[in-house]
Amino acid sequence: MSGRFITLEGGEGTGKSTQARRLAQHLRALGREVVETREPGGTPGAEALRHVILSGAAEPLGPAAEALLFAAARADHVAGLIAPALAAGKIVVCDRFIDSTRVYQGAVGAVDASLLDSLEGLSVGTVRPDLTLVLDVPPEIGLARAARRAAGAAADRFEKEGGDYHAAVRAAFLARAAAEPERCALIDASADADAVAAAIADVVASRLGLGAYEISGAGA
Ligand SMILES: Nc1ncnc2c1ncn2[C@@H]1O[C@H](COP(=O)(O)OP(=O)(O)O)[C@@H](O)[C@H]1O
Ligand SMILES: [Mg+2]
Repeated sequence: MSGRFITLEGGEGTGKSTQARRLAQHLRALGREVVETREPGGTPGAEALRHVILSGAAEPLGPAAEALLFAAARADHVAGLIAPALAAGKIVVCDRFIDSTRVYQGAVGAVDASLLDSLEGLSVGTVRPDLTLVLDVPPEIGLARAARRAAGAAADRFEKEGGDYHAAVRAAFLARAAAEPERCALIDASADADAVAAAIADVVASRLGLGAYEISGAGA
């Protein structure tokens, strides 16, 4: 028995965490066993590295060193949580994964693609997402959402970057989605959370055969 691996990707405030939770609830309502997780993190070792990365402590070391830390965290996460859950037939819903590395360290951070290829091979092996939902909103909407969420809290290493940076992040995610259309589905995430959840449920149904979306109250 082998499970299904679904990742959510996109810039700040596109709604990844919100929609990961919604998707997990939706799949559980269909009777599936779901593991919700996130990157960087997901296992104790990887959560410790998350703190190092997002605090900005590794930023002076440059994007390549950050890529090494992300890869170390991902290796622990895949081996300790994702691969065992998939082997047990569960659905894994992961908030950020390999595409975030390709975007933030690769396209934007200019880390050499061959280094990222090697790190990806080391950290994930053959564990590839069955479906990647690329959530897209204009950066000004995403940043405004993230600012509301973080009201009072300090911005993390990536949130504190400027507007050009976030525009480059958006463009790089769009390019990822266009380059791998069989794995990736581009989701317009500028609508309200209910509409985005419905669009995601439709994609998960059509691409992976996991249930059909039913508008609540409309009967089944
Ligand atoms: N479709 C949406 N419309 C409006 N606000 C949203 C939507 N989705 C999420 N939010 C809100 O925007 C903020 C950022 O959402 P979040 O899911 O944390 O984004 P991400 O994980 O992609 O950074 C949160 O406060 C969340 O409640
Ligand atoms: Mg989030």
